[in-house]
Amino acid sequence: MTRLDLEAVRTAYRRQAPSYDYVFGLVSRAARKRAVAAVNDLPGTRVLEVGVGTGLALPYYAADKRVTGIDLSAEMLARARERVAKQGLAHVEALLERDAEATDFPAAGFDIAACMFVASVVPNPRALLAELRRVVRPGGHILFVTHFLADSGPRRAIERGLAPLSRALGWHPDFAVSDLFGQDNPPGVDFTPVPPAGIFTLVHVPR
Ligand SMILES: C[S@@+](CC[C@H](N)C(=O)[O-])C[C@H]1O[C@@H](n2cnc3c(N)ncnc32)[C@H](O)[C@@H]1O
Repeated sequence: MTRLDLEAVRTAYRRQAPSYDYVFGLVSRAARKRAVAAVNDLPGTRVLEVGVGTGLALPYYAADKRVTGIDLSAEMLARARERVAKQGLAHVEALLERDAEATDFPAAGFDIAACMFVASVVPNPRALLAELRRVVRPGGHILFVTHFLADSGPRRAIERGLAPLSRALGWHPDFAVSDLFGQDNPPGVDFTPVPPAGIFTLVHVPR
């Protein structure tokens, strides 16, 4: 798969920032809510939201979670900051411009990392996973919501067909489980299809 580089990601989300909430934001709403509900059910308060974007998930966190959001795109982050200010989201501790594959956070500083619709975007998903394993404490949790290439059928053909448009789309329609984990059946990892119509998958990686 041809991967997006950091500049391609910045360009894609600079362009998408004004319309993001009304287009992809709506399609992904139910899956995002499911993911944050899963975060809220987990023990621990220190949450890292990776690729926080315009901050659509931020209002859903339980009041006792202390959330740090990071993103590569200054334009997406600006919208997240507006949302936090407008809605008075006191549980959001920081919104920072960072590359999720190489943060400067200390090791084991978070209880939970939540990564929604980002794994199929970043240049190197395995580096992302390694970085999240580093910053989440042993016994903590890493949650992804992502789209994976369908195993078969017309959806797979469409996703394969869309793959050359990755740079314009700002994500990889042909993103596979093995791109993230290096194998199709990573041990100890749970995969749950989430709405709409199981297009997205909630992935729980115990740390
Ligand atoms: C599809 S949007 C998802 C936004 C948000 N998580 C949501 O639920 O709407 C992908 C986001 O990931 C960010 N992103 C992509 N690669 C990144 C990286 N290496 N480090 C930090 N953020 C990244 C993009 O800038 C964009 O805001």
